[in-house]
Amino acid sequence: MKKKLIVGNWKMNGSLAANASLVQALRAGMAEGTACGVALAVPAPYLAQIQSLCAGSRIDLAAQDVSQHEAGAFTGEVSAAMLRDFGVRYVLVGHSERRQFHGESDATVAAKAQRALAAGITPIVCVGETLAEREAGQTEAVVRRQLAAVIHANGRCISEVVVAYEPVWAIGTGKTASPAQAQEVHAALRSQLAAATAHAEAMLLLYGGSMNAANAAQLLAEQDIDGGLVGGASLKASDFLSIIAAAQ
Ligand code: G3P
Repeated sequence: MKKKLIVGNWKMNGSLAANASLVQALRAGMAEGTACGVALAVPAPYLAQIQSLCAGSRIDLAAQDVSQHEAGAFTGEVSAAMLRDFGVRYVLVGHSERRQFHGESDATVAAKAQRALAAGITPIVCVGETLAEREAGQTEAVVRRQLAAVIHANGRCISEVVVAYEPVWAIGTGKTASPAQAQEVHAALRSQLAAATAHAEAMLLLYGGSMNAANAAQLLAEQDIDGGLVGGASLKASDFLSIIAAAQ
């Protein structure tokens, strides 16, 4: 059986004090036999803090973004090598908030995934349609286009990425895709991956968008949903622990 993966995306939230109590509560609350993978995608300034707070635990460190450039005159950017210095295992690329508010194109997202892979970090490639695109019947075409750019740029290495389907209309809105809606898109993504790699079945496809303690089990029971990318509910230890428990 494939091990599921639950990733908390803290977005631009946290403080030294709040992070310490949240991680302490997660460490204390995670059952001895937690079988799924767990990671926290934290703001860049807190990577060192979370690296040390999670040392010796089953929680992996993730970053929320990475530069498409290797190094040099790119003020404000954080390179993949820098993330690796802090023991980062995963990095989100192409989150819809980056695409929407920072103008990231499919090509930029693909280049970021490539940079992460070259540094030995697993990119979590986010794809998802807006409400207007869903209503226009374009959901599958949009996510396929977004994923195709990453497949094209990464060739056979595509089997090393994690894909997260996050319908934009479900992010932070309390509106979750139904398990059937999410499964339909995940199945389409899996078949697209299968055309590019023999390892598509083993790849992890996460769902994100208002996943919470009440709906996680149903979503995670779907055949092609291998985990969750959790925003708001990852900021409260009891909610995040319930989602982790649902992924066992
Ligand atoms: O990356 C996680 C995400 O965008 C979902 O956020 O708050 O709807 O769980 P949320």
